[in-house]
Amino acid sequence: MTPIQFSSGDVIADRRADYARMLMEAGDAAAAADLMAQALELAPGWAAGWFQLGAFFEKAGLKDEAVKAYRRAAERDEPGLFGAPLKLALLGAEPTPETPPSAYVEGLFDDYADRFETALIEKLNYSVPEKLFRLVRPHAPFALTVDLGCGTGLFGVEVAAASGRLEGFDLSANMLAKAAEKGLYQHLGQADLSAPAESSGLFCANLPKHRADLVSAADVMMYLGSLEGAFSLARDLLKPQGLFAFSVEDAATVEEGVDAKAGFFLQPSLRYAHGEAYVEQSLADAGFTIIDTLKTDIRMDAGKAVFGILFLARLKG
Ligand SMILES: C[S@@+](CC[C@H](N)C(=O)[O-])C[C@H]1O[C@@H](n2cnc3c(N)ncnc32)[C@H](O)[C@@H]1O
Repeated sequence: MTPIQFSSGDVIADRRADYARMLMEAGDAAAAADLMAQALELAPGWAAGWFQLGAFFEKAGLKDEAVKAYRRAAERDEPGLFGAPLKLALLGAEPTPETPPSAYVEGLFDDYADRFETALIEKLNYSVPEKLFRLVRPHAPFALTVDLGCGTGLFGVEVAAASGRLEGFDLSANMLAKAAEKGLYQHLGQADLSAPAESSGLFCANLPKHRADLVSAADVMMYLGSLEGAFSLARDLLKPQGLFAFSVEDAATVEEGVDAKAGFFLQPSLRYAHGEAYVEQSLADAGFTIIDTLKTDIRMDAGKAVFGILFLARLKG
């Protein structure tokens, strides 16, 4: 999401913000910040503007100023659309959030949905769905697979033929609309993996607990941080002895990031990486036994390979 796309409600402030962006594009971050600050004098309540100012200050190397601007953005952005708390954590000004604001992740993927598959498959060599399916294939077929964070349905493409019924859940309505176009899922629904079971959207009278034989989450945990909540949702979805397959970005291969509570790390990409020991302990705490893992490259990012760990775990019976 580009915050500058949101209007301030003041025509002159919007025009100044447009010029500020042009200055940024021309490489003059300090001048861009200066002009953006002038725009914000006219529209001091404009959360998107404060967020943009924070980004300009960051580019200009003015960290303290960036922190102040991001704080103002956070104060004015109650739903958390811009993810300012993540920026503040990366700048060392606030603790790392256990989970990013759901509104931020939802907006990110709503905006990304149209370009997602072209970007990931054609440009970024994304391989999690195929590799994760290789891990689960020896245990197929599955009467019911629940695909968490199903996105546009790339894991669905792999697992549909091995599943009697396939359900997909995601935070982003636009990603779900793309998944629906594939015609592979018998049920698609909006759900939030960072919410408690009752309000997650995963359960209702027609969608009871303990219904799934396989729960998958391909390339989703990096948008969650703390994994306890998602693991307990997976446990609530699964039948006894059911399988849980998911991927994380491998913290052991991450060069730069912020250590929250030892175990998960916020990276400059604004995605979280997870430590293997933390994942193992969280799985054990949620009642799972690991039956297979795969350490592998999962996609490219900014010209470099991103490494992940794929886990296959069984719920104790
Ligand atoms: C990188 S995409 C992966 C999509 C799909 N699993 C795949 O492999 O192509 C991550 C997906 O996770 C979803 N997601 C992130 N956080 C979520 C949350 N808290 N609850 C539900 N879905 C979430 C996003 O909306 C997005 O569609």
